[in-house]
Amino acid sequence: MFHTPIVPRVRKRSKPAEADVPRRDEVKFEDVRLYLVERKMGRSRRSFLTQLARSKGFIVEDILSDEVTHVVSEDSQASSLWKWLKECAPKNLPNMLVLDISWFTDSMREGRPVAVETRHCIQDTLPTLPEDSPPTPVASVSPYACQRRTTTENNNKIFTDAFEVLAESYEFNEIEGPCLAFRRAASVLKSLPWAVQCLGATQDLPCLGEHTKAVIEEILQYGRSFEVEKILSDERYRTLKLFTSVFGVGPKTSEKWYRRGLRSFSDILADPSIHLNRMQQSGFLHYGDISRAVSKAEARALKNIIDEAVHVITPDAILALTGGFRREKEFGHDVDFIVTTPELGKEESLLPIIINRLKKQGILLYSDYQASTFDMSKLPCHRFEAMDHFAKCFLILRLEGSQVEGGLHRAEGDSRGWRAVRVDLVSPPMDRYAFALLGWTGSRQFERDLRRFAQVERRMLLDNHALYDKTKKEFLAATTEKDIFAHLGLEYIEPWQRNA
Ligand code: CTP
Ligand code: MN
Ligand code: MN
Repeated sequence: MFHTPIVPRVRKRSKPAEADVPRRDEVKFEDVRLYLVERKMGRSRRSFLTQLARSKGFIVEDILSDEVTHVVSEDSQASSLWKWLKECAPKNLPNMLVLDISWFTDSMREGRPVAVETRHCIQDTLPTLPEDSPPTPVASVSPYACQRRTTTENNNKIFTDAFEVLAESYEFNEIEGPCLAFRRAASVLKSLPWAVQCLGATQDLPCLGEHTKAVIEEILQYGRSFEVEKILSDERYRTLKLFTSVFGVGPKTSEKWYRRGLRSFSDILADPSIHLNRMQQSGFLHYGDISRAVSKAEARALKNIIDEAVHVITPDAILALTGGFRREKEFGHDVDFIVTTPELGKEESLLPIIINRLKKQGILLYSDYQASTFDMSKLPCHRFEAMDHFAKCFLILRLEGSQVEGGLHRAEGDSRGWRAVRVDLVSPPMDRYAFALLGWTGSRQFERDLRRFAQVERRMLLDNHALYDKTKKEFLAATTEKDIFAHLGLEYIEPWQRNA
């Protein structure tokens, strides 16, 4: 298709001769065929720009045909532009350059099509659909993780890793706002089915502030963030990161040790004034093993062990894998289980029974049992992110290689036939099961946003024990996680989609 020449109106009265000659602009750039998108630009500006381009020797197509090579738009909403382009569905769309007006103005100024740079490109923010599938409405990204589906596949790891370092650094300095902001930003990027390739692609995304965008830009440009690299080489950050990696050592203790001038594990262990509690002693004792990721096969083996321990005494007990492994993660830092029984009250004796049995088997390396302090009459709890009151225990177990299909996940050169693994057990009463399961499945960011959504959008209080409607002043019953999502007016999100 050729560009439409400007045809002058036919005039009845005689005029100077040259005005009646149909004028055809000379085409200088045969390989470039422009199409100007009228949306946002408006008809009259489009027509003006069309004439300008043609006068400079560009071919401008009137319709979006497959001949078009350069689509130019003033629409800054990438998602709605791309939705429209896909609805127009030219077959050649994947080969067309979709460009910002800045490319057009640069080209007009230069009097030739300038080389396309990333800053000119308007990136597609939608996942590509298989051929023949009907156009779907633009799924805008929710600011709540509980309204997003986040699998373990992270297309933006280079950015989210950087954000997590920044968040942790703010956490160590007890600066809560930016810490949360970076965690939220990381969570948004984790939910995307596409990789961010230019800053423009992030413009319609929620929870990304100036600081996060500056980090994204730096990484896009240089492949790394200098701010993050500075943190990673910072002595205080490195020391606190090392100390908090020990089971039983939190940011407070780490900070205290750091201020005393301690910098390494040997500094701590050599300091006679440092008293380690039982948990920390076990943390140091089994450091190599428990700082090593637990595999899915190891999680399954542990489930068999606990299953056997609980069913010998309580045949009707219910045991469910929760935490990261329920979200179908390949590796975890521990293995989390919920254990209960249909008979209300009987669940209280379950954990001591299991712990006893593991001890008799000689595989209990550490146990911290906390009896239930759960009292329904003390609900609802208005404190945000409070720990739950169910009976629970934090364990370190000895896992034999012979019990693990495919063998242990061990360090190279480690020839022992066993390893130590962290295990968490929680035992809520059966009528609280759905809430506990939802609360312990995580991820932490998913849980935070579920609670925030409940409070801000629904005037409800959600925690690991219950859901309370502040308007109706009543508790909402649930026997499954689906019931809870339904009470909140949320679409159900499967556990494997909660890796926010
Ligand atoms: N949790 C909780 N109360 C606790 C401990 C944990 O409600 N006392 C919840 C957390 O909110 C989290 C889930 O239990 O959502 C699992 O916690 P954790 O094992 O720390 O994290 P995972 O998501 O399982 O990650 P990992 O694979 O590293 O263990
Ligand atoms: Mn876990
Ligand atoms: Mn855990």
